[in-house]
Amino acid sequence: MADPVELERKLKINAVASPVEQALSLAPDEIGRICIAEELSIATEDKKTHIEVYIPEEKRNELALGDYVVIPLGYKDYKIFASVEQLCYRKRDALDDMSDVHVFVGAERLGEDDYIETAVLNPISMIGPEGQALEVRYIPKPNTLVRKVTSEDEVKIGLDLPDKGLFLGFVAVNGEPIQTRQKQYVPYYLINDETKTGDPLIFTHVLIAGMSGRGKTHVAKNFVRQIVGSVYPMERRGGEQRKPCIVIIDPENEYWKMREDNPYLTKDAQEMLFGHGIKFGGIKEKLTVYAAVEGEPRYSGCPKYTNFTIPFTLVKDFPYLIAGGELDENQYVSLVQLVRDFFYYHENGTYQEFLDFVDNPNTLEMYKQNGRIHPGTFQALQRRVDRPQFHKIFDQGANSLTQLYNDIFAEDVVSVFATKHLSPDAERIVVLAILSMIADAKLKSAPTDWGRRIEKFPIVLVVDEAHRYFTRDQTQQDRVIVEKFIKAAKQGRKHRLALVLITQSPKDLNESVLAQISTRILLGMEREMAEFAGAPPRYQKVLPYFERGRMIVHAPDNSKPLELKGLDFCVVMH
Ligand SMILES: Nc1ncnc2c1ncn2[C@@H]1O[C@H](COP(=O)(O)OP(=O)(O)OP(=O)(O)O)[C@@H](O)[C@H]1O
Ligand SMILES: [Mg+2]
Repeated sequence: MADPVELERKLKINAVASPVEQALSLAPDEIGRICIAEELSIATEDKKTHIEVYIPEEKRNELALGDYVVIPLGYKDYKIFASVEQLCYRKRDALDDMSDVHVFVGAERLGEDDYIETAVLNPISMIGPEGQALEVRYIPKPNTLVRKVTSEDEVKIGLDLPDKGLFLGFVAVNGEPIQTRQKQYVPYYLINDETKTGDPLIFTHVLIAGMSGRGKTHVAKNFVRQIVGSVYPMERRGGEQRKPCIVIIDPENEYWKMREDNPYLTKDAQEMLFGHGIKFGGIKEKLTVYAAVEGEPRYSGCPKYTNFTIPFTLVKDFPYLIAGGELDENQYVSLVQLVRDFFYYHENGTYQEFLDFVDNPNTLEMYKQNGRIHPGTFQALQRRVDRPQFHKIFDQGANSLTQLYNDIFAEDVVSVFATKHLSPDAERIVVLAILSMIADAKLKSAPTDWGRRIEKFPIVLVVDEAHRYFTRDQTQQDRVIVEKFIKAAKQGRKHRLALVLITQSPKDLNESVLAQISTRILLGMEREMAEFAGAPPRYQKVLPYFERGRMIVHAPDNSKPLELKGLDFCVVMH
C-alpha cells in the first residue's frame, strides 16, 4: 500500500491521478464516502435504516451533528438528502474487514490512535431528476461520495420548504445559518397562500414558546409584521378577499412600537429584507392601542391610545366575567341563572343596578319561591359578585367596548390591548371579554352587532403570556372560555380565526388548546418544557442550549422540523 504522505505529495504534482489517488482527493464540499461498518441499508422502518460515511482524516474537523448532506446516487439521477445523526470513531479493523472501501481506508494516513471516523446519516428525503421531493427509496452504493449541501434548491427540496410566505428565519444548523456555495442564506417561510396545497398555515394556529428572555416577543413582532396586509379568502362568505384584523393581547406594553420604524435598520439590512420579500417598517395608523379604564384612566404607556370600558351588558353574554374566584359547578349554573334573570328585568342594566338587584330582598324571596337558585348558593353568590375591582372596571364612562367594535374589528388594522396598567382582576376581565367576543362571534353564537362585525374579517389573535388565560388548572369559569376556544380553534380555517399563542410556560397551557396548534416555534427552553411544547425528540435535548434567536420550527404541514436562526434585529421599532 502506498505511503499516504507520499501519495498526497504526488497528487499535488500530478494533474492526472490514478483511481486510488482520486479516491483520496475530496473536493471542498465533499466529506467522505459511503462505507459499510456493519451494514448499509434503507428500510421502511427508521430503525432498520443505516447509512454510514467514512470520513477521511482531512475532513474530520469539518463535520458536526445536524449538518445537512447530499448523496448523489450515481447509478440513478437521484440524490438522497440527509442529516448527520451520529459521529463515531470505530476501531480500524471493524471497517477494514467488513467494508469494500479497503483501498480507501488502507491508503488513508491513520491518526488519532489508529481509529477511523464515520458519520451515521439520517436520510430525510430524496431529490428526483426534475427536482421533485420524494421519499427515500433507492439505496446509495458503497463508496459513493457524500457532500455537503451546496444550493438553496437542495435545501428547499430536501426539507420541503415553501418558497414564499411569512418569513420566520434562516435555515440553520447548530446556531449558524447554512450557506450555499454562493454564500447565500436559505430563508424559511410559512405557507400563507390558499392556492398552495392546504391553506394559509396561521389558521391552524401558531405557538411561540421559550424561556423568559429568549426572544419570544422579538420573534412574535417580526412574525406579526409579516402577517399585516396579507389577503385571505373568507371561506364562508363566498370567498371574498379580506385582509386580516390582528388583535394583540399585550401584557407587557411591548407591541405599540410596531407603529414605528426601527431607526437602526441599516441600508444593507433593508436591502436584504427586500431581497427575501420580508416586510419591514412601522405600520403607522393601522395600529391602535386600547387601554381599559380601571377607576380612572391610568395608562400612559405610549403617545397615542384609546381608553375604553367594559360595559356591564357584556355580562349578559359572558356571565363568567363576574365569577370572581373559584365557583363550583352548581354555583356557576346559579350565577348564569341570576345574570339571565337580572337582564330579563333590566335589558341594559349596569353593574350597580345588578348589585341592587342581588341585594334586594325580593330577589332572594323570588328564588325561595321558584326554587331556581338555592338560598345558600344565592348568598354565596351575593358575596362573590360584589368586589371592589368590579366597581372599577365596569361602566367607567369611557368608550364602551361594544361601541368601539367597529374600530377594533376592522379590515387591515392591528388592535393592541395593553393590560400592564391593570390590576390582576381587571386584566382578567378585560382579556376574557375580548377573547370571548372573538370566540363567540367566530362560532356564530353571538347574534349581536359586534358578533356580525367580527365575523366579517379574518381575525389573527395574538396572546402574549397565553398560559395565563388558557390554563391547565382550571376554575369553572376558565373551563368555559377554554372550551369555547377549543371549539373555535378546531374550525379556525373555516371561520378564519388564527391563534398566535406566546408562552414561557407551555406546561401551564391547557393541553387541549395546545393540541389544536399545528405550528410550533420553539426557542431556548428546558428539556421538560420542550417535551410539553411538542418538540421533536431529537431537538428536546438541544433546546436548553439555544441562545437568543435560535429556534426550532415544527410545522408538519409546512416542512420537515428544522432549526432556524431568526433575524437579530426587529423589523419594526423594538
Ligand atoms: N434574535 C435576537 N437577536 C438579538 N436580540 C434579541 C433577539 N431576540 C431577542 N432579543 C433581545 O433580547 C431581549 C429579550 O427578548 P424578548 O423580550 O423578545 O424575550 P421574551 O422571550 O419575550 O422574554 P419574556 O419571557 O420576558 O417575555 C430583548 O431586549 C430583545 O431585544
Ligand atoms: Mg415577552
